[in-house]
Amino acid sequence: MKTDELREKYLSFFESKGCIRRPSDVLVPKDDPTVLFTPAGMNQFKNQFLGIGPLEFTKATTCQKCLRTGDISNVGVTAYHHTFFEMLGNFSFGDYFKKEAIHWAWDFLTSKKWLGLEADRLTVTVYKDDDEAFNIWNKEVGLPPDRIRRDDEYENFWPAGSPTNGPDGVCGPCSEIYYLPPGSQKTVEIWNLVFTQFNRVGAPPDNLRPLPKQNIDTGMGLERCASTLQGVLSNFEIDILKPLCHAAAEIVGVKYDFHAPEGRPVRRIVDHIRACTFAIHEGCLPGNEKENYIVRLLLRRASMEAYRLGRQEPCLHQLVPAITEMMRGPYPELTKTIETVSTAIAAEERQFLGVVERGVSKFHKLVEQTRGQNRTQISGEEAFDLHQTDGFLIELTENLAAAEGLTVDMEGFQVCRERAKEASGRGAFADSVMSEGPLDALRKSGGTEFLGYDSTSAEAKIVGIIAHQRLVDTFDRTGPSDPIGVVLNRTPFYGEAGGQVGDTGQIFTLDTEFVVEDTQRNGDLIVHIGHLKSGKLTTGLTVLAEVDAPRREGIRRAHSATHLLHYALRTTLGENATQRGSKVEQDQLRFDFAHAKQLTAEELLQIEDLVNARISDGADVNIQTLPLSEAKKLGAMALFGEKYPDKVRVVTMGDFSLELCGGTHLANTGQVGVCRVLKEELVAAGVRRITCLTGPKALTRMRETDALVREAAALLKAPHPEDLPRKILSLQEELREARRELARFTAQSLADNARELVAAAPVIDGVKVLVHRADGVPREALKEFIDHLRACDPNVAVLLGVVSDGKVALSAAVSKPLIARGLNASDCVKTAAKVAGGGGGGRPDLAEAGGKLPEKLDEALAAGLEYYRSKLTI
Ligand code: SER
Repeated sequence: MKTDELREKYLSFFESKGCIRRPSDVLVPKDDPTVLFTPAGMNQFKNQFLGIGPLEFTKATTCQKCLRTGDISNVGVTAYHHTFFEMLGNFSFGDYFKKEAIHWAWDFLTSKKWLGLEADRLTVTVYKDDDEAFNIWNKEVGLPPDRIRRDDEYENFWPAGSPTNGPDGVCGPCSEIYYLPPGSQKTVEIWNLVFTQFNRVGAPPDNLRPLPKQNIDTGMGLERCASTLQGVLSNFEIDILKPLCHAAAEIVGVKYDFHAPEGRPVRRIVDHIRACTFAIHEGCLPGNEKENYIVRLLLRRASMEAYRLGRQEPCLHQLVPAITEMMRGPYPELTKTIETVSTAIAAEERQFLGVVERGVSKFHKLVEQTRGQNRTQISGEEAFDLHQTDGFLIELTENLAAAEGLTVDMEGFQVCRERAKEASGRGAFADSVMSEGPLDALRKSGGTEFLGYDSTSAEAKIVGIIAHQRLVDTFDRTGPSDPIGVVLNRTPFYGEAGGQVGDTGQIFTLDTEFVVEDTQRNGDLIVHIGHLKSGKLTTGLTVLAEVDAPRREGIRRAHSATHLLHYALRTTLGENATQRGSKVEQDQLRFDFAHAKQLTAEELLQIEDLVNARISDGADVNIQTLPLSEAKKLGAMALFGEKYPDKVRVVTMGDFSLELCGGTHLANTGQVGVCRVLKEELVAAGVRRITCLTGPKALTRMRETDALVREAAALLKAPHPEDLPRKILSLQEELREARRELARFTAQSLADNARELVAAAPVIDGVKVLVHRADGVPREALKEFIDHLRACDPNVAVLLGVVSDGKVALSAAVSKPLIARGLNASDCVKTAAKVAGGGGGGRPDLAEAGGKLPEKLDEALAAGLEYYRSKLTI
């Protein structure tokens, strides 16, 4: 059975049982800070399991894109490990429970109409205390007791070991179904049925509270089940992965044979590039933090495999079209981003391979050094240096070290990493408030009602205060302290989302003032972050929440202008210039979009004109809430990697722009006033960024530019600004002439100077060595100075240095006979330049160099003299 067929069969089977077929959630969930990537099918249903919010349906079935990196080193080695994989699931939220879940699973697996697996090849496990599940398998399904194994919480609970070790939250015993493939001695787990019936709170004992409603969460690894049905020995041999292994091998230039030594690395490449294709498709580019770091790690690991197989140039991006082709059935949207994904992978490959050679040889030196010192561990500093300078992410170094039988001092590495982080000044203001524990507790009492589409002030009640990562009932410390978080039952404050920054303002009563410096969202909660200026905050207190309205106005202008810019980009550059990210602030916006080339000045003008034309049209901005399917029919663009609720907010401007957006907007495009493009730049491979100003900020910027031009005109004594270019050109010409004059002048004095210098130069072993700090000599005249010196005595070794424009310039010359004695002008300047913080070189008889440290010039000259001396006194 083909994998696509299995996927479809599973979903239609559970549809026939009344489950609603839901689309896969995104792979990179932005609204769940507890995970970087979606790890399982149940992730998108966390609220339903906890009974939070309205229930639109009580049973569902999905095929979920998942990514797990816990077992990354097993990928390609074992038959069944992946990073990216698809998980088939069926879910009940207080609807069906154990009995149906078990019967349906059995029916789906064994019935001829569905998978038709031989019942005798199936065994199951249950949690040790779960008699209910045992009895259903034994008495109702008819499995003999010797094919039902009972196991502990580490094997038969989900999450594994959660009763003892946590995490807190929904959990329950599970029952796993195993299959024994024909001809094999080893059973394979193909399905995990979790009976989510508890909420874990705190440490044992008595920490498992029965949930008001019992739930079902089952997960079947698609690739794993396909491999059993296709009778192949590894997931990588199934119909959707084997062709990719062959494609990857061809790209890398090896022959793919499952058992050959090349087999493992090729499988790893396929797994990792497939994972990255899905992640980057959702806009998750390789980077240094969180999920972006994982993408970078996967790409570098894959690159390293290709490098070791002998392909030492970027090539893995060529696999993207094949992956897309293979997965286009269930994920047709992948075809839209082939180019951006390939470009991003190629860029990362280039960057990594550019340094890998040096890194590999540095790594081998490290290995030798470590062994030479009788150590078995690479130190934290060494590993950090490889990480920082050579792009060997720590996991890669660990991996390479393990292959050499060495370990890495991970603690030492973390210390170095933290130090570097501190030095670069990171540490988000909001982090201290947005910690999960207190927010989870608050979430249970419902979300915050958002009133800010219609107003900027409202009366509300405090429902939660978060200080020092704890929920507190009252807070009265004023003055400088850590920021605290305040949650209200309703608020006009917009929590940062969809690129739009959070509102600022104040929350107050007659005698209390809380200054809101940022507003963040976490699920349905809106958290006001800031400092208490006076009075006391108490849970239950009625307060007035007032947004800084002029700032919000500026944000609305910038947000509406962002939609205009998106429209203008697509009109000017084509449909593929789609949004990749944005940041909307007060009268200032940044918009990232897919585009391979730098924009021309003409394109930029055209875009700016188009935006301003739509502003002066004064088009109405309309906002509707519609079912997602209807919005799509109207032509709304759903962005890849964004998760949308069933009902979406549609923002329309005139008849030219229609976007799904939760942000705050103007009523009419004319209210933007004006929009100026400030700059256009590259942010990542295949992604460009445009920065704009709107309304008063655009006007202020234009005034500042005008003032600058006027000032420049006054300084240059140009009567009109239009005269400026001509004036500048003529000044440049005057300057050139003056320099020429100066050089002529200098030449004469240099000639005079040279005679004296040569006469006074020290003689070392019969050779005149002239090392001189030529203050006042322009750097351009150094060579001429050397000619004069040589004219006085052809057989000199010279090194001259000056400080010019705050930088060091060095010139050295050695006559031909002296070269024969081992003197080299290039080596001499290099030696000196190194001291002065720079470098350079040239011919053995004449060389030049520069340096960044003027205060080191004397030291640099001394080093040059020392160089000549050492060569002459050998
Ligand atoms: N959540 C469980 C798992 O991931 C069942 O779907 O195994």
